[in-house]
Amino acid sequence: MSKRTKWDTKGDLDESKNLPIYQHKATLQQAVKDNSFLVVTGETGSGKTTQLPQYLHQAGLWGNGKIGITQPRRVAAITVAQRVSQEMHCSLGREVGYQVRFDDCTTQDTVVKYMTDGCLLREILADPVLSQYSVVILDEAHERSLNTDILLGLLKQTLSSPDKASKGRSVPLKVVVMSATLETDKLSVFLGGCPVFTIPGRTFPVTSKFSCAIGPKDTESSVYVKEVVKVALDVHTSEMAGDILVFLTGQSEIEKACDMLYEKAESIDYRYDVQDRKVEGLLILPLYGSMPTDQQKQIFQPPPPGIRKCVVATNIAATSLTINGIKYIVDSGFVKQLNHNSRVGMDILEVVPISKSEALQRAGRAGRTSAGKCFRIYSQEFWEKCMPKYTVPEIQRTSLTTVILTLKCLGVHDVIRFPYLDRPEERFIIEALKQLYQCDAIDRRGKVTRLGELMVQFPLPPGLTRALLQAASLGCEDLLLPVAAMLSVENIFIRPGHPEKQKEADKKHRQLGVQAGSCNDFTMLLSVFEKCKASDAPSAWCKDNYIHWRALKSAFSVETQLREILLRQQNRRDFPMEKFDGNKSELFRRCLCTGYFTNVARRSVGKVFCTMDGHGSMVHIHPSSTLFDQEAQLDWVIFHDLLVTSRIYIRTVCPIRYDWVKDLLPKLHEVDVYELSSVAREEVTDEEVAKWVTKEAAKRQTEGSAEDVF
Ligand code: CDP
Ligand code: MG
Repeated sequence: MSKRTKWDTKGDLDESKNLPIYQHKATLQQAVKDNSFLVVTGETGSGKTTQLPQYLHQAGLWGNGKIGITQPRRVAAITVAQRVSQEMHCSLGREVGYQVRFDDCTTQDTVVKYMTDGCLLREILADPVLSQYSVVILDEAHERSLNTDILLGLLKQTLSSPDKASKGRSVPLKVVVMSATLETDKLSVFLGGCPVFTIPGRTFPVTSKFSCAIGPKDTESSVYVKEVVKVALDVHTSEMAGDILVFLTGQSEIEKACDMLYEKAESIDYRYDVQDRKVEGLLILPLYGSMPTDQQKQIFQPPPPGIRKCVVATNIAATSLTINGIKYIVDSGFVKQLNHNSRVGMDILEVVPISKSEALQRAGRAGRTSAGKCFRIYSQEFWEKCMPKYTVPEIQRTSLTTVILTLKCLGVHDVIRFPYLDRPEERFIIEALKQLYQCDAIDRRGKVTRLGELMVQFPLPPGLTRALLQAASLGCEDLLLPVAAMLSVENIFIRPGHPEKQKEADKKHRQLGVQAGSCNDFTMLLSVFEKCKASDAPSAWCKDNYIHWRALKSAFSVETQLREILLRQQNRRDFPMEKFDGNKSELFRRCLCTGYFTNVARRSVGKVFCTMDGHGSMVHIHPSSTLFDQEAQLDWVIFHDLLVTSRIYIRTVCPIRYDWVKDLLPKLHEVDVYELSSVAREEVTDEEVAKWVTKEAAKRQTEGSAEDVF
């Protein structure tokens, strides 16, 4: 048997008493009562995330408020809430609920609330002292996600100022920071020397083996996917019983690997090929962020007798989720990571080698209940040459624009001297200020504008929000709301693996584009959204047009939520309104320009475009675009994002006229770095300021001012 079977066994809920944390229940309850800040650490899988909130709940520590637990990843928030609601014998959304971006599964009864760190950050905007909460638990602090890092700084600031901390609250807020064993001393020092509670745990030895399959040059996805499949099958046939956990980087790779595994596992003859006679089948299960939640549940259930479970997962299985019974790890050595790419001046999701500490964490997943084995598909040379010692915290490698706007809206004007656990490079902060200035969210003095206050309420990237608000002020939000929703959900276009089907899918997608009239990738999104919504049988319509129905369903819900936020703003008298006389297609594209003028490119030669943001990157239109192969007819375009492989591709593209951005483009160059960082002047030496000013002047000279360029 090697099917992806559905089966029904209930996980043993009583097993929670066997978790290492159980021994320390009373001590932990007391420690939280006694301290405003507490760091709790313990091996992954010791029960921190699922048990501690329940202990605090049982101890009545919630008083009149909620117990909030943040997670850097949405899947973790959802699956853990599911599990805990089972353990507490309530239906999900009642006493135990979750909230992630665009999906709120809580009610008035919810006391234990799992949520993403981004959600709590948004709640702080509306309620800076978190008066609804008695306890806030920042989980997975070692992951060093941007939002968790900012929450740490904010809560430190709030709790260390007694006036602020008690304002609007009857009992003081308790903050627990949970982390795997890394970084706990640093956290404690940061939080004013707060106590660290370590849950002693036993781990078993894991032997790790390198292989020579992947060397420093083998970074092609197809190469390492093939290799992990081969190794996983080797493990299945030659190792004793015990489940396998394979680490890959993302959904499409994982689906590919599962298909390959499934196909190959079919031909195993269990009478001859398998070392352990007790093993009679392989159950293959994918695990990634955007997977439907009912499928995610299966991951945690023990497999039927005689069947070996093989979970093919993203990095989510490294610390956020613990799967019991894993004895073997197959580590691809890669992870998908959002990095600021200085070559193009934007954040890009890219596949990079994991860090050595990450590799050790992955291996450790095999040694929870007995000795395990980790099969690294990469060589020792790869380990030494390509893998950094630690993963750089997100705050030091991604765009800070949204976070800086949030801080400014919270009244943290001096974003340079904010208490960061690890300070981001100043140039990243300045870059964020620059972008916020360019989209009119802050003024030249660094103060939040009225528009900035509106923008911060949307859980969208600033450029997109800016375009949406522009559309709303012109009374045509119906054009932009669906686009914003479609850009907020996972990919909606299905591209089948089979070449014939792929051709058919491409044809259908092209047809949708043609029907959309003006034919660009934004109107395409709008058209798919509207057509599907108008259809009597939307799911069949999707199937017929090679569109992911599940993604569209989420887009419908996201659109409704964005519309609600916008309506609240429009109902206020000071909502900005403007007039426009022109045709609808022009109106639509001009609104896009207001937000995306930072992402403008002009065709230089052949199919090559050149970006206008000062980086002057040479870019190509991505083959998935409706405008691919029509480059010759284009001059100026704007785009939603970039994909960097051996080439730089622009995706979700729209042709525009130079006239529409002419007045905006100078903004890309006019801002004065020195002016924007004025808040930190006292800290900056005159020498440094002089350096900035001359650097900026030199840059302007080499680039020429915007007017010179055009
Ligand atoms: O947070 P920490 O890594 O310390 O542990 P945890 O996530 O609370 O996991 C404790 C136990 O709950 C593990 O044995 C998990 O396998 C189990 N669990 C589960 O069965 N289903 C979930 N959705 C989440 C956790
Ligand atoms: Mg945990």
